[in-house]
Amino acid sequence: MTAPAGAVGTPRVRLEGREKVTGTARYAVEYPVDRVAYAWPVQSTVVRAQINRVDADTALATAGVLSVLWYDNAPRLHDETDPDLFLLQRPEVRFRGQVVALVVAETLEAAREAAGLVRVDYDTLPHSTVLTERHPGLYKPEKVNAGYPTDTAIGDFDAGFEAAEVRVDHVYRTPAYHNNPMEPHAATAHWLDGRLLAYDSNQGSSRVAQALAKLFSLSPGAVRVIAEHVGGGFGSKGNPRCPVVLAAMAARQVDRPVRLALTRQHLFSLVGYRTPTIQRVRLGADADGRLAAFAHDAISQSSTMTEFAEQTATYGRGMYAAPHRRTTHRLARLDVPTPFWMRAPGECPGSFALESALDELAIACGVDPVELRIRNEATTDPEEGRPYSTRNLVACLREGARRFGWSERDPAVGLHRQGRWLVGTGVAGASYPARAGASTATAQANPDGSYDVAVNATDIGTGARTALWQIAADALGVAPDRVRIRIGDSDLGMAYVAGGSMGTSSWGWAVVKACGQLRDRLRAQPDGRVPDGGLRVRADTTDDLAAQAERAPYNRYAFGAHFAEVRVNVDSGEVRVGRMLGVYAVGRVVNPTTARAQFIGGMTMGISMALHEEGLLDSRFGDWVNHDLATYHIAANADIESIDAHWIDEDDPHLNPLGVKGIGEIGIVGSAAAVANAVHHATGVRVRELPVRLEKLL
Ligand code: MOS
Repeated sequence: MTAPAGAVGTPRVRLEGREKVTGTARYAVEYPVDRVAYAWPVQSTVVRAQINRVDADTALATAGVLSVLWYDNAPRLHDETDPDLFLLQRPEVRFRGQVVALVVAETLEAAREAAGLVRVDYDTLPHSTVLTERHPGLYKPEKVNAGYPTDTAIGDFDAGFEAAEVRVDHVYRTPAYHNNPMEPHAATAHWLDGRLLAYDSNQGSSRVAQALAKLFSLSPGAVRVIAEHVGGGFGSKGNPRCPVVLAAMAARQVDRPVRLALTRQHLFSLVGYRTPTIQRVRLGADADGRLAAFAHDAISQSSTMTEFAEQTATYGRGMYAAPHRRTTHRLARLDVPTPFWMRAPGECPGSFALESALDELAIACGVDPVELRIRNEATTDPEEGRPYSTRNLVACLREGARRFGWSERDPAVGLHRQGRWLVGTGVAGASYPARAGASTATAQANPDGSYDVAVNATDIGTGARTALWQIAADALGVAPDRVRIRIGDSDLGMAYVAGGSMGTSSWGWAVVKACGQLRDRLRAQPDGRVPDGGLRVRADTTDDLAAQAERAPYNRYAFGAHFAEVRVNVDSGEVRVGRMLGVYAVGRVVNPTTARAQFIGGMTMGISMALHEEGLLDSRFGDWVNHDLATYHIAANADIESIDAHWIDEDDPHLNPLGVKGIGEIGIVGSAAAVANAVHHATGVRVRELPVRLEKLL
């Protein structure tokens, strides 16, 4: 047919950009729905308790109130796979902020007012909400998330560490972090002739539809979940969340469509958060900084409801060479909300600890920290022994050093002043696994020469829709303006979530397959004509992924390097990040415009993590003290000065038909360490407990 159109690799603005900035893009609670009612949750004011009684009389007497749901009268749910979704079923409170009742009313205002009038009588029990390394309940989970082994050991760490000329042994701590996407979690649910239709803000409506079908005992075909536009997620929307389940329960109860939008404050207890971590890193090296021994022992938390075991220490397993190595994970189950994914769950806090420790080792050895990482480059995976499909960490470090002007750096610590500011620079490595998940896609040729391509992808603001459109055009070998792309609807067929930096590789794989099969079908048509009704194929990558897993001898990761320049005010301790640069090796880049946005977005979250963010839990009340954006500080525009991202050309044939590695998460891996390392260079103060607040520097 025609030559490839070359859409992939070309900068493109988002297809839905105009709709978004003009306010016509519809989010989950913006679809006009007749007779819609509004729900407002009542949250527990205690941490751990039995509920004796719920008194809803006053709430029910409020004008406009239609119903109040609690464990006694709520519709029964039929699946306990995710205890966080088994809502309003039992008179038990497992964390402060848990939804204990739900008010449904004609208006949002009435629902909210009446929610404040529901009286809940509790028998409270003692609680434990603070993670420490001495927590008596610490245990070894069977696996950690993403199926990784809990512990690994290669060689003899203790002997290797003991014999090392230079040793680093420190504990690093990261606090809880809250995802806070711009659009809070929200849903509209509508029952129509036994079918459930939900508009929901999520990162994967196939997963949400499956969960709803099980919870409400429906056939999979009886649930449709639409998520056409989603205002961010950062992982917190990777699982179905309470709004869609509660809205569906309420809609059944009042026999009307129901809308539920969480507030910013609700998010802090109801949609997961990044677990706090306590991490001990030990590095043993020769005087030249070559690692002989590496150990990373990580402690994190989960709730009493479910085991969420974050893979904090897996980052180091595939990163740097050392013959003797050990990694462990231990978990405490506390009376807290269940933690969940937040951008690079595991790799993000884990890389803060390891990339900080490497900086400490570089200083102890008197070796430049870029050079130290290059000296410890791994040619095969240090634990699994397998080759990398491509590994360009060194290229990223070198290219970053060149662009950043690293060679002019004076390693002396705490000596570089510009007026009342101390200036310093820091570096850190980065990596993130390159994976894909099974998905389906359809491609249709129309008699007018246009094409319709559909895949149940979710665009959480990343530019996924645009990237898939570019991919489809090239796979069809036509100009992009002949292609329409549809996403964000579970009726389009099963597809992977927008998570794990796997969106483009997963959905794009299915799109390429469907488009390729359509081209074959078109070629087989008599005189290449598209029949009147159009020609349509559906492709599923389940078998392709299984086949790849069978034959794959490779470990697949994206790599990167972060460089930061900070200045620290000598009077106030204020830290400003004047310059930040990330250089990445991520396979093929589909859309340079949105890829750059992903990278600098991740780096911005890294700066935010380094300097601002901290979930503070008051152990007396088991609740987050800071639970809005006035008190939970994040990096804002004024906190970001010069920030830039580059990528090196990388052609990796061992990934997927597109050669993409995924770009959503690597920007936050290592970037907080680069900032903290720069703070040390500026001031001589090593902050091992984030965030780097000014009082820690004075
Ligand atoms: Mo990302 S935290 O895997 O959605």
